[in-house]
Amino acid sequence: MIEAYERDGFLVLPDFASPASCDALRERAARIIADAPVRGQVSVFTTAEQERVSDDWFLGSGGEVRLFHEPDGVSVNKIGHALHDRDEVFSRFSRDPRLAALASDVGLTEPALLQSMYLVKAPRTGGEVDLHQDATFLWTDPITVTGFWWALADATTSNGCLWAMPGGHRSTPLHRRFIRAPGGGSAFEQVGAPSALPTPPDGLVPLEAKAGTLVVLHGLLPHWSAPNTSDRPRDAYSLHVVEAGARYPADNWLQRPADLPVKGFAA
Ligand code: FE2
Repeated sequence: MIEAYERDGFLVLPDFASPASCDALRERAARIIADAPVRGQVSVFTTAEQERVSDDWFLGSGGEVRLFHEPDGVSVNKIGHALHDRDEVFSRFSRDPRLAALASDVGLTEPALLQSMYLVKAPRTGGEVDLHQDATFLWTDPITVTGFWWALADATTSNGCLWAMPGGHRSTPLHRRFIRAPGGGSAFEQVGAPSALPTPPDGLVPLEAKAGTLVVLHGLLPHWSAPNTSDRPRDAYSLHVVEAGARYPADNWLQRPADLPVKGFAA
């Protein structure tokens, strides 16, 4: 399996999480959404290039549990970005000893649990996530980010499952990273070569996943997901882990507050 991960840049592990633990996360997320204080103006999250909104609500979410909405302003797109530290149910799920062992197996020697997201991708309204590499958003020097993504409902090609480019982590150098712009807000900064990402997404395979499946994603692996045009939910949870010893730049968009240092699996 490790060989397959090194070759393909991803690993699909069915039945990693029990049906009961998937349900517990979905119920907890529904509770967080229901209990969220009503804000005068919601923060829209979309990965469509021209529409990316990086307001204070987004840039200040590194240590918080905050809602981000679809462009309709009603449906929740995701909850982020410190569920694994701020919420007991998500913290327990994220610190499963089996996950710590898996992180070690894929080469993380001192894993730091940097960021987490509950991805709603609601029926009929959940949007596309355009082709990207996670290292663009969670850059470390050297690049160490590794993604752990759980299907909490069955994910298929009709409700917006992940698609990935087999081996793309070896053939696609990082070309940009998402930073805090010096003048405020955010920006993409070019690093290295021009983009080698295919437009439109091409050469990808669907990673259909039953609820409970864990997908491990190399930080350089190009991946994408379609809108959810079905009537079925496609809830997922993702956790991004980096190497504690790697340099984490002060201009990365995601910054943790001083009172919430990044911790490992044991914390
Ligand atoms: Fe991603």
